[in-house]
Amino acid sequence: MKAIVLAGGSGTRLRPITHTQAKQLVPVANKPVLFYGLEAIAQAGVREVGIIVGDTQAEIEAAVGDGSAFGIDVTYLRQEAPLGLAHAVLIARDFLGDDDFVMYLGDNFIVGGIDDIVATFTAQRPDAQIMLTKVPDPRQFGVAELDTDGRVVRLEEKPKEPKSDLALVGVYLFTKAVHEAVARLEPSWRGELEITEAIQWLLDAGLRVDSTVISGYWKDTGNVSDMLEVNRLVLESIESRGHVDESSEIIGRVVVEDGAMITGSRIVGPAIIGAGSVIRDSYIGPFTSIADDCHVIGSEIEYSIVLREASIVGVGRIEASLIGRGVEVTPAAHAPRAHRLVLGDHSKVQISS
Ligand code: TTP
Repeated sequence: MKAIVLAGGSGTRLRPITHTQAKQLVPVANKPVLFYGLEAIAQAGVREVGIIVGDTQAEIEAAVGDGSAFGIDVTYLRQEAPLGLAHAVLIARDFLGDDDFVMYLGDNFIVGGIDDIVATFTAQRPDAQIMLTKVPDPRQFGVAELDTDGRVVRLEEKPKEPKSDLALVGVYLFTKAVHEAVARLEPSWRGELEITEAIQWLLDAGLRVDSTVISGYWKDTGNVSDMLEVNRLVLESIESRGHVDESSEIIGRVVVEDGAMITGSRIVGPAIIGAGSVIRDSYIGPFTSIADDCHVIGSEIEYSIVLREASIVGVGRIEASLIGRGVEVTPAAHAPRAHRLVLGDHSKVQISS
């Protein structure tokens, strides 16, 4: 069994962060979201992992290296453009050979790992296996229609009238049968080779596609609100460690990494403060991750993710925010009452005025 992990893509929904950074490296509780997936793959006993990379290849390679830190052996597979999930399978053909494989979307987050689905697939060996989960609004997802025995009969990408509320989760298991399906695909209306169409081709050819409905938590971290939710979930299970000085108060579970300096502040966990960060005269509220080498001075922030080297100085309550690397947030001069903004392309700002 091999694995391919998709870490290319365009990441339009996470702009402007993705103008300068791979979305799979945006941290959740100060660890890149991609690492959780690689850990789940290693945990399931898969060693040979191909990582599909695009324009952010150098950054992904610098973060993951040869995979030995995860107990896996990584091969990088360059995709010249984000031409679809099935296109990633196409370019991985030589790497995969005739082996069975797991396909894992590098920005997806699954609680409980993939051990069970890999074990079920290996034992029962259908031609393909998909993971499904119930979602409130299936119209935004790939949706599966099942027969009374739970076998997949049809898949539809973002249907206007969904036949079920079961959405495809970003983990798929395939035998070599998928290669023929992928080779026959034509680009969809959005110009991509769609994996749902490849699986539909398997179904139409009379092959067996099993499904597992997961009850655990799954999120595609492709947008800011899901990213903040996953951050909240991971912080829920952290254990306290590290120290603050006597002038600070800690409530609940808080991780203070070595070299972080916290003075005159109140931190209500769960929260994590990265190495080298300075928190002074501030309030850090629940479900907040502050990365390494940040400054939060005389400010209040909660339910947010702050990337490294950002500084937040003298500003009132910030919440539900994703703040990029090296960003500076400061108060405006008192008069005239005005906002002064230097925002990157595709930034999103909500100002209360
Ligand atoms: P998506 O989130 O579906 O696509 P995207 O990255 O282009 O994002 P957006 O919709 O915000 O523009 O991709 C799921 C995962 O698969 C993600 O980790 C990126 C990766 N991917 C590839 O590696 N190659 C591709 O051709 C595509 C479409 C996605």
